[in-house]
Amino acid sequence: MPRIVRPTAYGTPDVLTVLEVSTPRAPSGGVVVEVRAAGVNPIDWKLYSGTFHTVDDEHKDAAGIAGSMPSLGLECAGVVTEVGADVAGVQAGDEVIVYPVTAAYADYVTAPASSIFAKPVGLGWAEAGSLMLTGTTAVHALRAADVDAGDTVLVHGGAGGVGLMAVQLAVAAGATVIATAAERNHPLLRELGGVPVAYGPGLADRVRAAAPQGVSAAVDFAGTDEALDVSLELVADRARIASITGPPRRAETGIKLLGYGPGQDAGAEVRAAARAGLVERAGDGALRVLVATAFPLADAAKAHEAGLAGHAPGKLVLIP
Ligand SMILES: NC(=O)c1ccc[n+]([C@@H]2O[C@H](COP(=O)([O-])OP(=O)(O)OC[C@H]3O[C@@H](n4cnc5c(N)ncnc54)[C@H](OP(=O)(O)O)[C@@H]3O)[C@@H](O)[C@H]2O)c1
Repeated sequence: MPRIVRPTAYGTPDVLTVLEVSTPRAPSGGVVVEVRAAGVNPIDWKLYSGTFHTVDDEHKDAAGIAGSMPSLGLECAGVVTEVGADVAGVQAGDEVIVYPVTAAYADYVTAPASSIFAKPVGLGWAEAGSLMLTGTTAVHALRAADVDAGDTVLVHGGAGGVGLMAVQLAVAAGATVIATAAERNHPLLRELGGVPVAYGPGLADRVRAAAPQGVSAAVDFAGTDEALDVSLELVADRARIASITGPPRRAETGIKLLGYGPGQDAGAEVRAAARAGLVERAGDGALRVLVATAFPLADAAKAHEAGLAGHAPGKLVLIP
């Protein structure tokens, strides 16, 4: 029987349970995909831990919380096994990237045709299954902070899933990128074209030393008080600071808040429009998806424990 992993209660990763379900049928306008790799993202454990913030009703489907318990797995890659009515251009056997989707922690998932992209031949399953959520978030954040050639942008949390995408995309756009990370991730950030600095006390001075020309924009993927305060201190124009996570006091600072919460910009159009370009860049090797660890699907709880530890260099992935 096909499997799906779901939380059966709110709590710690041990609430994740492997359930047996029947193989889904393709809906009209959609397909069934046999999942080969599903990306793991912090939203997945936040949804059942009780720590996730309020989500606007209109974004509940996108955040995977339409049912009584959250469905996990907002992105994946796999092979199309069935095509529903009114779908053109997709066939059984196609290797695809699927985003957005819900309940991808599974052997099979259904998805609307609008979420299907051909998987580039040279892109591995784990990379393909974990490209989109972080990639589209990074595009949105850089757009919101108006980052372009000639900018010096400060990336907080540069070695995380979203951070690694943003560093590469900002470098490709011609920006100078200062990225905060733990020391052991500095060589990786240098390799990607960024200038790494350690976070922690004295961060603002280290950034000034690394960027004597000044910092014109900041994107915060770390969500710490320090990241917020240093961004406010170093970036003159608050409209050029974008944050995807952080303390509630962010709301009073005039910076841009991105996400699904009240008063935040979900960026649905920007993120949807970014997908094809991300697939193309990943396919031709211009954008690397860095996979930290791939876990068997049944070990989703172990993947979440690794994610909760908070220092995985790159993506955690589940392989059915
Ligand atoms: N609003 C949205 O639309 C949206 C979308 C995606 C994600 N998010 C949120 O954004 C956050 C990041 O997501 P992610 O997928 O990139 O997570 P992730 O892959 O788990 O990365 C988190 C990174 O934060 C770094 N970090 C830990 N402590 C830090 C500190 N004190 N200062 C600076 N960096 C620190 C770690 O790097 P080191 O190993 O170098 O310490 C780690 O790699 C999560 O809270 C997630 O829920 C929001």
